[in-house]
Amino acid sequence: MSTGKSSVPQHVAIIMDGNGRWARRHGWPRLKGHQEGAQSLQAILRACRTAGVKYLTVYAFSVENWIRPKAEINGLMALLRKFLRDQEHELHEHQVRLRMIGRMEDLPAAVQKELSRVIAATAQHTGGQLILALSYGSRAEIAAAARRIAAAVQAGRLRPEEITEQTVAANLYAPDVPDPDLLIRTSGEMRVSNFLLWQISYAELYVTDVLWPDFREAEFNRALASYAQRQRRFGGVK
Ligand code: IPE
Ligand code: IPE
Ligand code: MG
Repeated sequence: MSTGKSSVPQHVAIIMDGNGRWARRHGWPRLKGHQEGAQSLQAILRACRTAGVKYLTVYAFSVENWIRPKAEINGLMALLRKFLRDQEHELHEHQVRLRMIGRMEDLPAAVQKELSRVIAATAQHTGGQLILALSYGSRAEIAAAARRIAAAVQAGRLRPEEITEQTVAANLYAPDVPDPDLLIRTSGEMRVSNFLLWQISYAELYVTDVLWPDFREAEFNRALASYAQRQRRFGGVK
């Protein structure tokens, strides 16, 4: 049984789901659920600091989410800019580096600008990392990696027989980030919805029925406690 520091995941990834259902349950528009969800993200970022979790990757908007009604998409993008403005001070205060994974080019220009600015401003911070998955799709990420590897082969910089798992990993969006140890999905759905398919190969899974706007520090600590009880074997025997 592992106890103490080593039982704290270094990297937690979260599929922040259930904002719409939370809003509906209260009889409010979906956007209100997203607003409350942004509060949960702030709370979980703080909880990561308290618990000693170094990397937090959150699924904020998928490549598939572009099919949602335009009003909802616009609301989410506006909320994202607000989140960045609201959080910037805290990121600096606690030396947290902001990063993004996904198709940056899909985002509205104003969001790209705000995002790039905060990413650059926090690039030297070493107190932890907040990684936003935006217009993110794992298949798109892997396909982009395949294109880069193929280009390297075509340019004569790489031979096909030299391509290993490390080559693929090195061509993903954030190659230096360790794989998630724990993947949390809120609101009960038992699926991964195109999130970090390569990186979660050996992640521990935690699904809770709690909706994302209700997922705060106490719920997060429940997930960490569950993780601490797991026996990770990585294919070996214990
Ligand atoms: C997650 O909440 C946030 C995003 C996908 C942007 P949803 O908006 O998917 O909420 P539900 O699943 O409809 O309850
Ligand atoms: C996954 O949630 C994407 C995000 C949390 C950003 P969805 O609500 O889009 O996933 P599905 O459609 O239920 O699989
Ligand atoms: Mg959903």
